[in-house]
Amino acid sequence: MTLPDAVIAVAGTRDAGASAARVQVPATAVTAVAGTNIALVKYWGKRDVALNLPATGSLSLTLDRLGTRTTVAFDDGASDRLILDGAPAGDAATARVSAFLDRVRARAEIGRRALVTSDNSVPTAAGLASSASGFAALALAATRAAGLTLSPPELSALARVGSGSAARSIFGGFAEMARGERADGSDAVAHALPEQGPDGASWDVRLVIAITAKGPKAMGSTAAMTHTARTSPFYDAWIASVPADLIAARAAIAARDLPALGVVAERSALRMHAAAMAADPAIIYWNAATLAAIARVRALRDAGTPVFFTIDAGPHLKALCRAPDADAVAAALRAVPGVSETLIAAPGPGARVVEAQP
Ligand code: DP6
Repeated sequence: MTLPDAVIAVAGTRDAGASAARVQVPATAVTAVAGTNIALVKYWGKRDVALNLPATGSLSLTLDRLGTRTTVAFDDGASDRLILDGAPAGDAATARVSAFLDRVRARAEIGRRALVTSDNSVPTAAGLASSASGFAALALAATRAAGLTLSPPELSALARVGSGSAARSIFGGFAEMARGERADGSDAVAHALPEQGPDGASWDVRLVIAITAKGPKAMGSTAAMTHTARTSPFYDAWIASVPADLIAARAAIAARDLPALGVVAERSALRMHAAAMAADPAIIYWNAATLAAIARVRALRDAGTPVFFTIDAGPHLKALCRAPDADAVAAALRAVPGVSETLIAAPGPGARVVEAQP
């Protein structure tokens, strides 16, 4: 029996034929936090849309900032409610969360609806709000609030159904998501890379995020990757290129070889965007400042700083560099016309429970 739905028979009410008086155990509110992650080998395509199974593996770095803090409390409400960044969420976001909670309820064998309160530590209107940290935090908070304790791979598989990249944010530091082979997706899960350095400690790199636009991205990743798969003549070539990048990225991380990892990260991002740009109609996430920031990263590199870029489904650039170079890289990117802000992020921990209240 799971805690939130547990019922206690009140002593002395066990008369035959009558149902025992029952007292609901108060809902447990569980709060979890998760950092977002930035893929260095990108996920861009699904082998199964319903279960959200990726067409390839991917590899990312979980960050210490740009995360989500989510509280879930199952209660006696008539429907699920979502408060996102302090305001009631729209129907689409609430429906996505509610469908996710249905999986948790089915697993915990409970029927109660939930109040979900979620806050992103992202500069408002930057377009950086992350489904990765969002569904990782939700998976952990919702399962615990429902009385379930899942193993990290089980949590990763659950988070993946919410959003593919969320499977990686269950883990800290460098994490690799497996494509998996099984139809039920049980092997399409992430794990923390063991090769995080010779002494087992995580590798202290930095990601400098250059914000190049305000507002939400042009097209959400889910729709954009489906459109790329359907219409881009480059899609198959993109998918075929990923396994070699995964091998190279793993080896670079094991050797703590930043230039080797950076080269893989740049080509993975560029190939992903090339496949999207070749879709019909084209998906173009970049703006003039994105291109100017790419040029600045390359100029910094020519001048001797090991720094490499990656770009997700949006116009912002993320620059991978050594910790001692991060301030100078941030200053150089802030000077690029169209870059409004820079943030420096370090490797961060995996999803964790921070509060559980009866
Ligand atoms: C460009 O994980 O947001 O950030 O599974 O459809 O929710 P869904 O997609 P999502 O896609 C992430 C795309 C990416 C690359 C990556 O994070 O690997």
